[in-house]
Amino acid sequence: MFDQIIECAPLGVFDSGVGGLTVAGEIFRQLPAEEIVYLGDTAHVPYGPRAVEELIGFADEIVDFLISQGAKAIVDACNTTSSVALEFLLSKYDIPIIGVVEPGVKAALRHTVSGRVGVIATEATIMSAAHRRKVQQLEPAVQVYGQACPLFVPLVESGETNSGKVRQVAREYLAPLMDQGIDTLILGCTHYPFLVPVLKEVLGPDVNLVDPAWETVRQLGRLLEEKGLTGRDKGTVSPQHRFYVTGAVEPFREVGQRLLGTGYLLERVMQVTLG
Ligand code: DGL
Repeated sequence: MFDQIIECAPLGVFDSGVGGLTVAGEIFRQLPAEEIVYLGDTAHVPYGPRAVEELIGFADEIVDFLISQGAKAIVDACNTTSSVALEFLLSKYDIPIIGVVEPGVKAALRHTVSGRVGVIATEATIMSAAHRRKVQQLEPAVQVYGQACPLFVPLVESGETNSGKVRQVAREYLAPLMDQGIDTLILGCTHYPFLVPVLKEVLGPDVNLVDPAWETVRQLGRLLEEKGLTGRDKGTVSPQHRFYVTGAVEPFREVGQRLLGTGYLLERVMQVTLG
């Protein structure tokens, strides 16, 4: 009975907005038997300029909500809260919770040859130096160069991912990192993989772009196996994913669908008030 409940329980996934869909999409690919319940805290996006205490408060409320929705494990699909709130969440909740910072760093360390790694992320993530601290812990000889990109999240949330404005802003943000001769760039915000075509165009072919989603979901799969929490394949019945937003439903559904592409139909988007 208990096993059956666990097999059918969803994974909780959260972000400030549509960014976590880059991780959700990877869950659909790597762990197709898993069902997700997603929370996009769109009433508070962007998270990047906010204070640490406030971000911890948001993450706490979200995890509480996802647990109330039956989540068996949580993916903090936001680098900002993974940087400043994950420790708090792990100390407060018994449920398995995985963030995106450590997986991103591990993937980058596998790619770099020169030992010069860039990180682009929100202001709060760069200020926390979470990626730098993790690299120092795992591979102290590797140099990390961080760059905050405050305009990227609002652009992606409005569905603007490939315009002249995005290109111009990307050139400005990436120039100092290119001057440092990085060979690997961590996309340290889950909104940024949606900007990959422009980022590639600006960086050229010699810089590896690391989207932490793949490694995060690989680690998640292992964690679920270790804890005996793996979902059961329901045969012909596809998982019934649910999406909640704290702001308006339609912009999230519309932009999210455009960003996810035609492979997945973004249905069941509902508004919720937290706290
Ligand atoms: N996707 C969030 C992250 O990974 C964006 C934070 C924001 O809303 O500024 O950091």
